[in-house]
Amino acid sequence: MRLLILGGTWFLGRALGVLALDAGWSVTTFNRGISAADLPGVQAVRGDRERPEDLIRLADYGPWDAVIDTIGYVPRQVLATATTLAPAAGRYIFVSSVNVYTGWPDKPLDDTSPIFECPADADADFGADLGYAGQYGALKAGCERAVVEAFGAGRATILRPGVILGPHEYVGRLTWWLARAARGGQLLVPGPSDRPIQPIDARDVSAFALGCASNGHAGSFNLAAPIGHATFADLVNTCVAVTAAGTEPVWADPVWLVRQGVQQWTELPLWRTHEGVWKVDSSRAEHAGLPSRPLPQTVAETWEWMNGGGTAITGTGEAGRVADHGLAAEREQTLLQAWIRRD
Ligand SMILES: NC(=O)c1ccc[n+]([C@@H]2O[C@H](COP(=O)([O-])OP(=O)(O)OC[C@H]3O[C@@H](n4cnc5c(N)ncnc54)[C@H](OP(=O)(O)O)[C@@H]3O)[C@@H](O)[C@H]2O)c1
Repeated sequence: MRLLILGGTWFLGRALGVLALDAGWSVTTFNRGISAADLPGVQAVRGDRERPEDLIRLADYGPWDAVIDTIGYVPRQVLATATTLAPAAGRYIFVSSVNVYTGWPDKPLDDTSPIFECPADADADFGADLGYAGQYGALKAGCERAVVEAFGAGRATILRPGVILGPHEYVGRLTWWLARAARGGQLLVPGPSDRPIQPIDARDVSAFALGCASNGHAGSFNLAAPIGHATFADLVNTCVAVTAAGTEPVWADPVWLVRQGVQQWTELPLWRTHEGVWKVDSSRAEHAGLPSRPLPQTVAETWEWMNGGGTAITGTGEAGRVADHGLAAEREQTLLQAWIRRD
């Protein structure tokens, strides 16, 4: 198989490249060569997806059986990329997000839930009134539309992951919990401990994407671990166990935490009280072969990576928001004391 990865040096793009090379595929990556090293063994093509002449030059390296676009955020750019690559690639696999659903994170959703309306040629400023997450989702919806327009529905595959975790994560979610657990002491944790969560490992997303490339699966797929696959306690207890710092989780009432003004999703990463956040139906992808490794394995292997000197890439977009994640140590102590001494 011949595969082109747009991106290919960060978290998900990197995991895709590793897996494809391990499977003996011929892998081309396309990036500017400024933020991280290329994987050994790939054919690295330098270029900027925002420059039409770079895309035309890229197409000359084809043909490929599939292109996987991990770096599509602006519909107009995705439309230009897909239109240029349509004669050179059999299938366009676009990494989108559950944020395309207008109901997420408030309502449970499946592949048929309503998504944002956004034109296929929208610019980066589309949906500025929707807030950070809404605009991100609307733009991703426009990108999906651009892919279908350029490749046709039969040659387009849309992947909509929920939260992706694993080694090389750069957002600061699991990596914050691990780093915090490694500091020891009492750890403030949002209850209930049996809250179901559905993060998916980047390597499982990658395995599914490569499966779509070889089996020709078209259409859209929600990518999340099955509902009930793991709980918040699985996450926290594994962080505590693997970091081995004698950390003691203190489970606090979520309503109380909200009342104290603790920011969900950022101050306490992966915690959100919204009804639909962890109610993403991924059964279509499961039937098409989506694997979901146990969450404790993802946690342990991410710690192994961090402990071995792995550090997150920092840059723009999500990678520029690492500092937004996690509770400051002093604030955590204040909250812990207030929770322990409450009436
Ligand atoms: N993290 C999550 O929980 C989550 C959840 C749902 C969906 N997603 C989606 O998953 C994807 C994540 O992909 P990722 O982890 O591989 O990282 P990414 O942050 O999307 O991409 C970084 C890669 O793109 C390259 N790049 C950036 N700008 C470029 C440009 N203008 N032209 C060419 N290359 C460029 C970078 O290399 P250079 O800097 O060297 O160019 C690097 O290789 C995203 O599409 C995201 O929306 C993530």
